[in-house]
Amino acid sequence: MTTVLLTGAAGYIGSHTWLALQAAGFSVVGLDDFSNSSPEVLERLRELGGRRPVFERASVTDAAALDAVFARHRIDAVVHFAAFKAVGESAAQPLAYYANNVGGLVGTCQAMQRHGVKTLVFSSSATVYGEPKYLPYDEAHPLSAMNVYGRTKLFGEQILRDLEASDPAWKIAWLRYFNPVGAHESGRIGEDPRGVPNNLMPYVTQVAVGRREFLQVFGGDYDTPDGTGVRDYLHVMDLAEGHVAALRYLLDHGASITTNLGTGQGTSVLQLVQAFERASGRPIPYRIVDRRPGDLPAFWADPTLARERLGWRTRRDLDAMCADSWRWQSANPQGYA
Ligand code: UD1
Repeated sequence: MTTVLLTGAAGYIGSHTWLALQAAGFSVVGLDDFSNSSPEVLERLRELGGRRPVFERASVTDAAALDAVFARHRIDAVVHFAAFKAVGESAAQPLAYYANNVGGLVGTCQAMQRHGVKTLVFSSSATVYGEPKYLPYDEAHPLSAMNVYGRTKLFGEQILRDLEASDPAWKIAWLRYFNPVGAHESGRIGEDPRGVPNNLMPYVTQVAVGRREFLQVFGGDYDTPDGTGVRDYLHVMDLAEGHVAALRYLLDHGASITTNLGTGQGTSVLQLVQAFERASGRPIPYRIVDRRPGDLPAFWADPTLARERLGWRTRRDLDAMCADSWRWQSANPQGYA
């Protein structure tokens, strides 16, 4: 059985990928320092998986702790999620972002190297494409960063390219995520941001349960069909299954891969709000306010490469994303608290 170490395993994407890997027959060791997640996730994973999750509480910036984890478990591959992801915060705390996102990646790879593990799936982001030169973004689109968070992902990608060039035994998947939303269909795990949500869907779901009064729609005058921002939202379980497909690709083909994970469909803020209202039966009051500085008007993925090389495509539509986000938030109005 192949054993996979998941860093950032208690986070939103990590926890869903944990279930997807188990469902695909992998053995999982989760690692997290709970700096932006809750230990309650482990309880929910136990319930859903029917067994106690194998878990290590440690930071990816702690080399000794990582060594101990690799010594205790026979790890075959690593899926590296552990990172911070709030754009505004990254500008205020650049060193924390570089230490965790870049330092943590380097530390994880060094630990892997010390223990002879050279198969890695890396959480990158569509943010590495920067200002669109054309749309949809394909993997050949030029790269650039628009903020500190984006630079940590861009530098992370480059560090891994250098590593792969230094030693072709490394097999790496660079996964560029578009906008993950939704939750596991059980409604037992989902997205639980701390403080005021930065991202659209958790803000909408918190309005729906009455934790926030109304949604602020950032900009109504973009050059898009209804004037609001357009993104490529994908269901987090499709994204999780994309990791399984990427890992299988690395293990079966012995080759690295760089790929988008998105649907190929653009959806505007107001389209998402309407879909959510239908799925939840709750009205989402909103006000159109100024654009958020640094936001792009519109972007979406060209998902062809993932389909052709990984045999992966998204299966859950916008209605399912909304229904599952709602199931999670309505059953857990305060998240894991
Ligand atoms: C954001 C980050 C991106 C990061 C991703 C990770 C920015 C500029 N981009 O992506 O780098 O990889 O999160 O989670 O922060 N919106 C509202 N009201 C809200 C929140 C969002 O109208 O309260 C709009 C935004 O203007 C945008 C869309 O909803 O048009 C999606 O926003 P969001 O969920 O924050 O995702 P991104 O901006 O695409």
